[in-house]
Amino acid sequence: MDVMPASLDSLESTIKEIVARHGRSEHELLAILDDVQRAFGYLPENALIEVARNLDMPLGKVYGVATFYTLFSVEPVGEHVIRVCENAPCHLLGADTLIDVLSQELGIPMGGTTSCGKFTLKHTSCLGVCGVAPAIMIDDEVYGNLTPDDIPVILEKYR
Ligand code: FES
Repeated sequence: MDVMPASLDSLESTIKEIVARHGRSEHELLAILDDVQRAFGYLPENALIEVARNLDMPLGKVYGVATFYTLFSVEPVGEHVIRVCENAPCHLLGADTLIDVLSQELGIPMGGTTSCGKFTLKHTSCLGVCGVAPAIMIDDEVYGNLTPDDIPVILEKYR
């Protein structure tokens, strides 16, 4: 994510502005959560409370959506989030090997964040590019047809 994280102090006004932009409709929840995550880097609990309040929705429902989609994170994440597709086509074509190389290169297990705060490594469901499996996504950029040798080259762009 290239957006500077908004201060948690400005959380209320930031969320009010995002909701106003999309409209106070439950149908806009995914788009609103996406913008909130771009603003804060993840979905802090206070942000989910504010979104629920602004949309007049039960917090449990907002939290359920925030935790259902693998593209959302309710935990703080690193500056760059690396998502490795774990669905069958990517799995069959070597996603596990990519995970091993990523873990080794970054020195973190799946789900971890590097101590410098630069990278977080996560699973994701299908990225919609099964034709170029195995695939990963770093921030908003998708990389496909990957071999283990590609990983260090790609990481170098973000270091
Ligand atoms: S299964 Fe990996 S991109 Fe669809």
